[in-house]
Amino acid sequence: MHEFAPTTDAAKPELYRELLAAADALTAGEPDAVANMANLAALIWQFVPRLNWAGFYRAVGGELVLGPFVGQPACIRIPFGQGVCGTAAASGETQVVADVHAFPGHIACDAASRSELVVPVVRGGKVVAVIDLDSPEPARFDAEDAAGLEALAALAAARV
Ligand code: SME
Repeated sequence: MHEFAPTTDAAKPELYRELLAAADALTAGEPDAVANMANLAALIWQFVPRLNWAGFYRAVGGELVLGPFVGQPACIRIPFGQGVCGTAAASGETQVVADVHAFPGHIACDAASRSELVVPVVRGGKVVAVIDLDSPEPARFDAEDAAGLEALAALAAARV
């Protein structure tokens, strides 16, 4: 099977370039969205350190519904506009949350989560999914993480 591994101690931009290349190789030519989301969630988990949850919520019938992920079992349905995920989905904008306890309406799925990054997956001008990363570390995510995940979301848009 495919073997992808991040370069140990790579700087963030390089790590995200490696993640994107692995994601491209793993999903190229595969039309099944669930299979691709499952592999992308696994790759994020493998490449991005210090996470306790990584995965997808899909836009289905006007709300977000849990998709493939790595981590603790999570909330299944999130209305657009609610929580960090619903805010990203409703606005179409990446959410970098340094302290989830300070985010109005944050939905706690795993009590260990302290910071969160949510990136919308946009196809044809519509949010079709979000990629959600949680960390047990406060302020875990910065602009480089956001840019790396936005590049991954752009790739995912055509493959999930
Ligand atoms: N914290 C998210 C909910 C999803 S879980 O973190 C997996 C939110 O506020 O939207």
